Amino acid sequence: LAQPLLARPLVLVGLMGAGKSSIGRRLAHRLGVAFADADTEIEKAAGRTIPEIFEAFGEEEFRNGERRVIRRLIESGGPRVLATGGGAFMADDTRALIKAESMSLWLKADFETLFERVSKRSNRPLLKTADPKATLRDLMRKRYPVYAEADLVVETQRVPIEETVDKVYHAV
Ligand code: S3P
Repeated sequence: LAQPLLARPLVLVGLMGAGKSSIGRRLAHRLGVAFADADTEIEKAAGRTIPEIFEAFGEEEFRNGERRVIRRLIESGGPRVLATGGGAFMADDTRALIKAESMSLWLKADFETLFERVSKRSNRPLLKTADPKATLRDLMRKRYPVYAEADLVVETQRVPIEETVDKVYHAV
């Protein structure tokens, strides 16, 4: 039998709009492994959308759900690609778990790319502020040093999605 290409789960981290879900899905297909999206799993478990969860229970409860879902997805084992929400890797315990049990990959993009992508959908409660650009810049400043702890980094801006999938495929 052929060796599975991925010995451990591949966990995609990075800011909203970096392409974690779309790249993750294509990458999993190419690698012949399962794909899971932590945000989608949280929504399934809660029976509500992410904005509804933030609205009804607040960010802290969302983070607790996120933590549980990611732990379950990683511990359920098997090679797979897992896309996480942009805040997941910021939690010390979740980051430690990801670092210990999987290969982590930061999908890195510049401000313009991220802002353009997140502007297309209004499903990011963290950006519902008076100045979403300033908020996104602030998130980049706070989070990039932490995302940099991932095992691998691939830049996604200004290249077609298939090209990024290709780059990641050869990096893992
Ligand atoms: C968040 C990112 C979102 C989602 C939630 C919070 C964050 O996921 O988990 O809105 O803290 O950056 P995406 O990165 O998939 O948009």
